[in-house]
Amino acid sequence: MKLEDKISPSFKNIRMSPIVTISELVKKKAPEFKAKTGRDFVCWQRGEVDFPTPAYIKTAALEALEANKTKYPISGGEPKPKEAILKRLERVYGARGLDADHIVITFAAQEALELSFGLFRGKKGAGFAPCWSCALENFIPYAEIDFTEVPLKKDFSIDYDILKKILDEPGMSLFYLNTPHNPTGKVFSKAEITRVAEMCKEREVCLISDEAYETIVYDGQKHFSASSIDLDNIISTFTLSKSYSMTGWRLGYAVTRNKEIARLLKLGNYTQTAGVYTFGQYALEQAISNVHEEQKAVSAMVAGFARRREVLYAGLSRINGLTIDKPGGAFYMFPNFSNLIPKNLTGEERNKFIFNRLMNVGVATVYGSCFGRHFGDNVRVSFSTTPVPVIEDGIARVTEALKGLG
Ligand SMILES: Cc1ncc(COP(=O)(O)O)c(C=O)c1O
Repeated sequence: MKLEDKISPSFKNIRMSPIVTISELVKKKAPEFKAKTGRDFVCWQRGEVDFPTPAYIKTAALEALEANKTKYPISGGEPKPKEAILKRLERVYGARGLDADHIVITFAAQEALELSFGLFRGKKGAGFAPCWSCALENFIPYAEIDFTEVPLKKDFSIDYDILKKILDEPGMSLFYLNTPHNPTGKVFSKAEITRVAEMCKEREVCLISDEAYETIVYDGQKHFSASSIDLDNIISTFTLSKSYSMTGWRLGYAVTRNKEIARLLKLGNYTQTAGVYTFGQYALEQAISNVHEEQKAVSAMVAGFARRREVLYAGLSRINGLTIDKPGGAFYMFPNFSNLIPKNLTGEERNKFIFNRLMNVGVATVYGSCFGRHFGDNVRVSFSTTPVPVIEDGIARVTEALKGLG
């Protein structure tokens, strides 16, 4: 047997993120497009954040380096950063009854999620569709989860009958819930999250609550964190990537009231002295405990996203035949183009019809089938890196590209 054939299927089944593939395609096409039209691509495909990391966090990292916070970290997280996490969870979400053994500091949310899915290797799992593509392409195949998509309704509300039926399947072990939601921007309510958590608990299913966009909510809404629910079947995952514009720092944490789960998450990747780089943990501590600077920085970024959201939503809403929900959080919209796609198209051709048309006018998006099997006529538009004038330019191009359809 060849060496390559001996490699575990859990690695071989991981697929390249379609979003990365689209970004590569943009890189290839952009120079040609520029030469032909004199214009740049409008990059609406990625979840990168274009604001700089707030200065007080960069200073905290430099100070931690100066103070020689450069030695092996304590497995699962240093005490002071963990204390700061506990304080923040109580301050922001009213989460009480947690202690340091309920927290695991991780390399951003992706590691927290990969470890959480990994706890249920080879078991049955489920989650709402549309579903963040990285879960579908990476965590699920890597953990060899037999995964069922639970489609949200057209308006992105929960169909509890379908949910119940799928959770009732024998052997169901985990349910993945992401709020604020990528790709729709839906903010699940306290009632919805609590009901899902309780349904999971009744069946001893682990709820993996991905709260990556916790601070990015609009119109005075508030994110409800599952970490504040007093149940032992929940893992909430957090990251500094989006809220603090720290995508490249790779800092986050998992919170669970189940100490055995926390212990295993810690062991999953961290034995003895391995863990998240020490000075990063102290930057994390400052990022979340300097409340004054935190609120200033986060609210300025959210205000910036909110302005982009208004302009993008107003522009896309004006396009005949397209249906769109205004997102309550995150920085994505997920309009539906069913009325504009020729009826006879099926399969790949249908999935990429709108995407290709938009690529032709230099607008990069992500087609709906990247987020599972149920929303192939939708397209995800990200406004995380495009300032308002670029959004206005993008809307003009989309309007032009869709003329005559439907
Ligand atoms: C829904 C969701 N969860 C988690 C993440 C993970 O982010 P990170 O690993 O940078 O914390 C992302 C990033 O795009 C995301 O969209």
